[in-house]
Amino acid sequence: MESFLLFLTVSLSWVVVSGLSSSEFIYPNFTASNLRFIDSSGSFLFSRNGTFKASMLNPGTQQTNFYLCVVHVASNIIIWSANHDAPISNSGEMSLTVNGIAITDRDGSFKWATPPLKSSVSLLQLTEMGSLVLLDQLNETLWESFDYPTDTVVIGQHLPVGIVLSSAVSNSDLSTGDYRLAITASDAILQWRGMTYWKLSMDINAYVNLNYAVEYMALNQTGLWLLGKNGSVVIIQVNLFPSDFRIAKLDDSGQFIVSSFPAAAQKQEFVGPVDECQIPFICGRIGLCADDTASDTPVCSCPSNFRASSQNTKSCVPSDDLNSLPVACNSTYINSGLNLSSVSYLGLGYGVDYFANDFAMPVKYGVNLSTCQDLCSADCSCLGVFFENLSGSCYVLENALGSIMSSTTSDDDRLGFIKTLVKDSPANFGGNNSSSSQTQDFPLVALVLLPFTGFFLLVVMGFFWWRRSRLAKTGTGKLGYQTSPSSGNLDAFSIPGLPIRFEYKELDAATDNFKTQIGSGGFGAVFKGTLPDKSLVAVKKITSLGVQGKNEFCTEIAVIGNVHHVNLVKLKGFCAEGRQRLLVYEYMNRGSLDRSLFGNGPVLEWQERVEIALGTARGLAYLHRGCQQKIIHCDVKPENILLHDHFHAKISDFGLSKLLTPEQSSLFTTMRGTRGYLAPEWLTNSAISDKTDVYSFGMVLFELVSGRKNCSPRTQSHSMDKDNSGCGHSSSSSGRGLVYFPLYALEMHELGRYLELADPRLEGRVNSEEVEKLVRVALCCVHEEPALRPNMVSVVGMLEGDFPLSEPIVESLNFLRFYGRRFAEASTIEETNGQSDTMLYQQANTACTSSISGSNVILSYVSSQQISGAR
Ligand SMILES: *[C@@H]1O[C@H](CO)[C@@H](O)[C@H](O)[C@H]1NC(C)=O
Ligand SMILES: *[C@@H]1O[C@H](CO)[C@@H](O)[C@H](O)[C@H]1NC(C)=O
Ligand SMILES: *[C@@H]1O[C@H](CO)[C@@H](O)[C@H](O)[C@H]1NC(C)=O
Ligand SMILES: *[C@@H]1O[C@H](CO)[C@@H](O)[C@H](O)[C@H]1NC(C)=O
Ligand SMILES: *[C@@H]1O[C@H](CO)[C@@H](O)[C@H](O)[C@H]1NC(C)=O
Ligand SMILES: *[C@@H]1O[C@H](CO)[C@@H](O)[C@H](O)[C@H]1NC(C)=O
Ligand SMILES: *[C@@H]1O[C@H](CO)[C@@H](O)[C@H](O)[C@H]1NC(C)=O
Ligand SMILES: *[C@@H]1O[C@H](CO)[C@@H](O)[C@H](O)[C@H]1NC(C)=O
Ligand SMILES: *[C@@H]1O[C@H](CO)[C@@H](O)[C@H](O)[C@H]1NC(C)=O
Ligand SMILES: *[C@@H]1O[C@H](CO)[C@@H](O)[C@H](O)[C@H]1NC(C)=O
Repeated sequence: MESFLLFLTVSLSWVVVSGLSSSEFIYPNFTASNLRFIDSSGSFLFSRNGTFKASMLNPGTQQTNFYLCVVHVASNIIIWSANHDAPISNSGEMSLTVNGIAITDRDGSFKWATPPLKSSVSLLQLTEMGSLVLLDQLNETLWESFDYPTDTVVIGQHLPVGIVLSSAVSNSDLSTGDYRLAITASDAILQWRGMTYWKLSMDINAYVNLNYAVEYMALNQTGLWLLGKNGSVVIIQVNLFPSDFRIAKLDDSGQFIVSSFPAAAQKQEFVGPVDECQIPFICGRIGLCADDTASDTPVCSCPSNFRASSQNTKSCVPSDDLNSLPVACNSTYINSGLNLSSVSYLGLGYGVDYFANDFAMPVKYGVNLSTCQDLCSADCSCLGVFFENLSGSCYVLENALGSIMSSTTSDDDRLGFIKTLVKDSPANFGGNNSSSSQTQDFPLVALVLLPFTGFFLLVVMGFFWWRRSRLAKTGTGKLGYQTSPSSGNLDAFSIPGLPIRFEYKELDAATDNFKTQIGSGGFGAVFKGTLPDKSLVAVKKITSLGVQGKNEFCTEIAVIGNVHHVNLVKLKGFCAEGRQRLLVYEYMNRGSLDRSLFGNGPVLEWQERVEIALGTARGLAYLHRGCQQKIIHCDVKPENILLHDHFHAKISDFGLSKLLTPEQSSLFTTMRGTRGYLAPEWLTNSAISDKTDVYSFGMVLFELVSGRKNCSPRTQSHSMDKDNSGCGHSSSSSGRGLVYFPLYALEMHELGRYLELADPRLEGRVNSEEVEKLVRVALCCVHEEPALRPNMVSVVGMLEGDFPLSEPIVESLNFLRFYGRRFAEASTIEETNGQSDTMLYQQANTACTSSISGSNVILSYVSSQQISGAR
């Protein structure tokens, strides 16, 4: 502050030779140019305490483009500029009149002005928050720069839904660049030419608290917030260390950066996306971006079939000069009457991906590569495709081509193809177009073979996973865990999101010596407890894990503890003392979904069920895509969906399979997963993936619709027969009073009679469109071929209504008929232990939860880490 006063004094002393910098206010009939205020570098107005200044300046070192800017003095960061798309020369002027601010160039040509105002301006104020405000005689605000943000938000400024930040082209050219930060009703997203490349809700440092509608984004001393309900509820938050001043800026690099200024030192606190290869144009058009672990800067090259462009070093062009890249919907291209035979596709090779693929929907599922390419050829805005071999998903790249990311994750089998125009003869077509050689049919697993191979595969699989898990375990622990001496907790050095460490005796006291048991999960009993701050908790006492190294345990806990989503049960803390392993979760006052849904209490109303379905889907989508490490739940079922006030659903028990050590899972012990919700791939040789959870979620959706267990005997179900005489009599789904509900749903889907599937206890209090939607989404989720199941992001989209509903593929649902028949037969056989059973019987059990739940689960081991690895 002293140095500022000094500075102010110095600038005051120039009064005679140049313009005088004012403090806080200036009045109409004022003009400023860089030349006139040359001695204060163009600054003509300071905020009261000198935190901000308004200047006519030329950023960077360039000498031609001058802008009216608001600058944060201490950091010299431009937080706002008026004429960013219409620069002026050093003698161009800003003038303040009773009509507002206008900017004209040296020759008097108009460049920029404030919009028409409703009354006359009496003064212009630069506030201590950094806003330029035009006030009238009554001190009423006529206009303020905070309402017209450029690329920056500061503390005190609100960025409402619908207003975007746009990056500048560069540090010295403030004209509007290609990157945007937009606030949507549920998120803050970054886009490049209409394509999303980052979402705040999916950032590892963001906590998603609520699903209310977002109204604006704000920044304050303790974090970055998306707020709703007029600022009274926090929807997404990023906790930051307390700091008096911070700036959030959409950098010209395409990254959204929050920096704080505790002293003069600039500190970046939050960056999205962190991985620079996720930035759409980091390596230019079709440039291949690879992370260089050594230098920490991305390395650009050209993918196979491409070479560096001779004109523009930062872009790649086809190596073969006969191929040229089309311009999206270029009229020359359309009018030249090009026919499809002159369009070709250049493969990008293996191990590459596109930044937008994780945020976009494929335009088609279950097609082959040539169909995918034909879609692109027929669309002038399409410039290339990414094709997922396994699922037949077709992603199109539209309007503009960005950089390509090199992708090392093994679960990405997307292949990229760039559309090119073949200049010469059509004979080139197909020459090196890899389409024909790279299309393959899905390996469809024939159910008939299962009785013979299933058991063998199970053994092999178990062994395989066990080996992989051993390998995977060695390289984990991305999130460092702060080990503190056994003191009470880590308050002294608290990292946002890291759970609290409890002492055993604290938890013993909190639960009154483990008196009230409220549940028993796969890993041990759960007790109700009350912490000293009076908050209710659920304490899980882990018994089935055996003793595990404290460090491994803590590393995993740090991962789970860093997962924050409104639809996931929050891990509040843990205890690892001696042989004791306890997890402390937030307490959910309504218990698990199975109790509300199947119990004898008041019937769950339809709207509540829809909310629960959506909440559960959102939670799973976050686990699969949102966290740094993909987490596959492996045990999605009503027992693991907990309800809170207003039937707000939260998923529990995620991430726990990681806590198992391979040694404990001698071949196949302790598989996560419960019959009835288990996907067929547990018994086939298909890999376990996020699609395994999608299957289980589909099974839960059926139960939400029907209000009963998918395989409960009809006699025990809620008077299905009474009001539904047609129920399955003529169909294969009924047999000796048993209905396998998913099959019944398939049959009703084929007949278009969705309403008959709804829980009869609701007595028609349902929304028929929503019943159809839930049933169709559920059917898509349980496709036998995992690749044909939508991912959870798409499921959420379909449930929310943003994505069109997919059509269930009956060929991939026929296995339900088989399960249904087996179920009907098996239900007459007494329950015995799995080993002596035939595989058919085991299959039937896979379809349905046994009544003696828990005692005869098929055992195997899966760690979510080795399934997917770090993203
Ligand atoms: C500003 O100038 C206009 C004419 O140029 C004059 O009519 C007006 O009174 C002036 N206003 C003030 C506040 O000096
Ligand atoms: C300006 O600075 C003074 C003293 O440093 C402080 O008391 C006052 O709150 C500041 N005003 C604003 C608007 O920040
Ligand atoms: C407007 O605000 C200024 C500065 O805060 C003050 O001096 C003036 O009296 C105010 N005028 C009215 C009409 O409130
Ligand atoms: C920052 O904003 C959040 C959300 O509105 C609020 O909970 C928090 O108390 C604020 N922090 C400060 C220091 O004002
Ligand atoms: C929103 O909050 C502001 C201040 O917090 C208050 O002045 C305003 O009346 C509120 N608006 C509504 C619609 O509640
Ligand atoms: C369309 O493409 C032609 C040839 O490739 C090029 O000369 C022309 O400038 C392009 N037009 C537009 C609007 O991009
Ligand atoms: C379209 O392709 C056919 C055969 O490939 C060729 O004979 C014809 O001339 C082409 N049409 C145009 C307009 O280039
Ligand atoms: C791709 O699918 C389409 C339509 O399903 C079919 O006509 C075509 O023969 C298939 N192409 C290949 C190469 O399999
Ligand atoms: C296709 O590619 C191979 C090597 O990748 C090359 O030898 C061959 O000449 C190419 N053929 C055409 C028609 O471009
Ligand atoms: C498609 O997937 C199958 C099975 O994973 C694989 O064998 C085949 O090589 C893949 N095809 C391409 C073109 O990658």
